[in-house]
Amino acid sequence: VMSLWILLHLAFLGLSTILPWVQGSSLCKSVTWPSSPNLNSPLEVQETIQIPNNGSAPLLVNVQVFVSNVFNVDILRYTVSSMLMLRLSWLDARLAWNASAHSRHAVTLPCESLWTPGLSIREALWVDWKDQNPQARVDPDGHVELNLALTTETNCDFELLHFPRDKSDCSLSFFAFSNTAVELEFRAHAVNEIVSVKREYVVGDLKTQVLPRQVVPCFQVTLSLKNTALKSIIALLVPGEALLLADVCGGLLPLQATERIAYKVTLLLGYLVFHSSLVQALPSSSSCNPLLIYYFTVLLLLLFLSTTETVLLAGLLARDSVGDKISPSAVPRRDQRKENLGPNSEADPRGGKRSRRSWAEAADHAFFLVYVTSVVCSQLIFAGTWMWATCKSDPAPGKAVPHGGPRRL
Ligand SMILES: *[C@@H]1O[C@H](CO)[C@@H](O)[C@H](O)[C@H]1NC(C)=O
Ligand SMILES: *[C@@H]1O[C@H](CO)[C@@H](O)[C@H](O)[C@H]1NC(C)=O
Repeated sequence: VMSLWILLHLAFLGLSTILPWVQGSSLCKSVTWPSSPNLNSPLEVQETIQIPNNGSAPLLVNVQVFVSNVFNVDILRYTVSSMLMLRLSWLDARLAWNASAHSRHAVTLPCESLWTPGLSIREALWVDWKDQNPQARVDPDGHVELNLALTTETNCDFELLHFPRDKSDCSLSFFAFSNTAVELEFRAHAVNEIVSVKREYVVGDLKTQVLPRQVVPCFQVTLSLKNTALKSIIALLVPGEALLLADVCGGLLPLQATERIAYKVTLLLGYLVFHSSLVQALPSSSSCNPLLIYYFTVLLLLLFLSTTETVLLAGLLARDSVGDKISPSAVPRRDQRKENLGPNSEADPRGGKRSRRSWAEAADHAFFLVYVTSVVCSQLIFAGTWMWATCKSDPAPGKAVPHGGPRRL
């Protein structure tokens, strides 16, 4: 079931990379073309409402972006779901009227009856415009104000090196494909209106930027997301550390005790289960993988080493004692001597066996010291790496190219 689920996820991710440009609904349908475009008749084409003319300068459209919610951050699929409100305003002198002749302060018009910019979000997997027929408010001097609410799921390249203490910048690039940068220019600024803080990822900062050197007019909203989840630390780091500590303590059990092998093997088994669920919970990428993945792999190797050492030395000791028991000439004499002299006697004539046992114990002791040192060192190295490591993802191939949209307009 789990693998099926992952497969579904992969299929969805594949789909989303195929369809990175999901067109936001053209805000009003009759803006770009009449309902039945008849290119042979110039009259009908002229009937479509053209962008207000501002001489040689582009028309200036002010955009206020209100971010009201970031309700889902999926690091496995690299997506962010957010709710935004856009307030677009511009001047269309053709709509101005004589305020002293007509006393109305403002009128509300369905947006099909005037020119509006059509917006698409480059990173969006889907966009849900809340209002299919938004109304625009027009002032006597021709100022148009249009409010649009939308919910969208967008793709974002999270920087997960420091997961679960990661910070990422996710951007939403709005393009107006029906116009060129010569005709239209955006002035954008963003307002953080998020009221909910009960989130794993919180929006720390909000920036807007008008992308330079673009063929298509566009602006970009950048959300700085910060992971504040304590759950991952409790669910990942604490069990890992506890297992390591338990394993170090297991080294204090005497080598002869059979419980020690059982103890260590149980720990290793428990850790393997934990490790496989952990690997599924962490995303992977072509660069800047989470440091935790390396940390837990080192932990696995340490536990494996200590279990192997216990099994090897205990195996050596067991072979010794088996060898003693089946050696027929030695059996009665040794039993007698043991009774007389006690187990710790220095005068034991079977010095070979004693020295083998003490050799194994000395080796075990030495291994224990080395093991504790390497555990402490690995923790320190990890802490240092965590503090100082930075990672810059490989530049995206499309980053350097100015965005012309699907065709040169
Ligand atoms: C026309 O362009 C000028 C210069 O860029 C700008 O200051 C002005 O606001 C523009 N007018 C409109 C209606 O956009
Ligand atoms: C507006 O209407 C008033 C009254 O009818 C008139 O006196 C004035 O000239 C008009 N202004 C313009 C700019 O047409």
